[in-house]
Amino acid sequence: MGGVALWPAQASAEAPRVDAIFSLLLVVSAVIILLVAGLLLGFAIRYRRGSKAPRGRLPAILSRDIEIGWTSATAFLALFLFWWAGAAQLAAVQPPPQALEIRVIGRQWMWEVRHPSGARELDELHVPLGEPVRLVMSAEDVIHSFFVPAFRLKQDVVPGRLTEAWFTATQPGEYHLFCAEFCGTEHSAMRGRVVVLPPEDYARWSHAQPEGDNLAQQGAKAFVALGCAGCHVAGGPVHAPGLAGLYGRQVALADGRRVMADEAYLRDSILLPRQDVVAGYDPVMPSFAGVASEAELQRVVAYLMSLREAATP
Ligand code: CUA
Repeated sequence: MGGVALWPAQASAEAPRVDAIFSLLLVVSAVIILLVAGLLLGFAIRYRRGSKAPRGRLPAILSRDIEIGWTSATAFLALFLFWWAGAAQLAAVQPPPQALEIRVIGRQWMWEVRHPSGARELDELHVPLGEPVRLVMSAEDVIHSFFVPAFRLKQDVVPGRLTEAWFTATQPGEYHLFCAEFCGTEHSAMRGRVVVLPPEDYARWSHAQPEGDNLAQQGAKAFVALGCAGCHVAGGPVHAPGLAGLYGRQVALADGRRVMADEAYLRDSILLPRQDVVAGYDPVMPSFAGVASEAELQRVVAYLMSLREAATP
C-alpha cells in the first residue's frame, strides 16, 4: 500500500476488537469536543457584553431531572467503555493453554527469537497463520518494547523478568516489528518483520533451520555444560531437588510457602536460588546470574519444562 495508511493492516484476531474500541472512543470524544466547543462559542456570542439576551433565572426545561439524567447517562457510557476495554485487555493477557510458545530476547539493538523446534532468528519472527502464539520475553540490557502495529500488540520487555504477550495472526503476509521503548542510540534501528505463514509452511520453515536440536534438547546440553547436572541427579554427591515433573507443580518451600513452579519460578530459582528454597534442602546452590546468558536461561528453562511431558505417564 502506497502513501499514508490511516490504519495499519488488521492482521490479528485482536486487531478488529482494538480498532472498534478505539473508533468508539474517537467518536465519543469528537462529539463531546464539538458539543462543548459549540456551546462555548455560542454562549460567548449570545452573552457578549452589550447584548440584550435575557440573563434572569434558568429556563424551567433545565430542571434537576435533566441534570440527573445526563449525568447518569454519561456515567454509564464511561462505565461501558471501561468494561469493554477492560474485558478486551483481560482476554489479551490470557493465552490459550495450547498456544505455540516462542521465546524472545531484546538486546541493544536486535530481537532474537527462538522457536520450540530450536530454530533461531534475528529481527524476524515467523509464525503460523490462525494458531495462537505466546511470546515469552526478556531483555539482556535495558527495557525494550515489542511492538507489532498490525497485530495491535505492544509489550515491554524488561531485564530480570519475563513478560508475555499472545496473538493469533489472521492474515498471511509480512508486517513491521518495532522496538517501542527508547533503548539507546540505535533504538530507531531496532526493527524487523513478522512473517505469517500457512501452518504447513511454518512447520517446514521451522524444521529447515540449521540448528540440529530443538530448544529443549539444546537446554539439556546447556544443563550439563553449566554444571547443573552435577548436583541435580538422583544419587548425586549433593542433596539437590530432582527436577523431573517439576514444571507446573506446586512446590513446598522451606519457609512454609507454597508456590507454583511456572516458567518465572524456574528462571528465578536459577538466578536467585536463595529466594525460594525447597523444603528439606539446604540453600547451597550458587546463583547463575551473570554466568548463564539470557539465551542459555531460555534453553535450560525450556528443557526443565520439557521434563514434565517426560514425567507424566
Ligand atoms: Cu530496543 Cu528501543
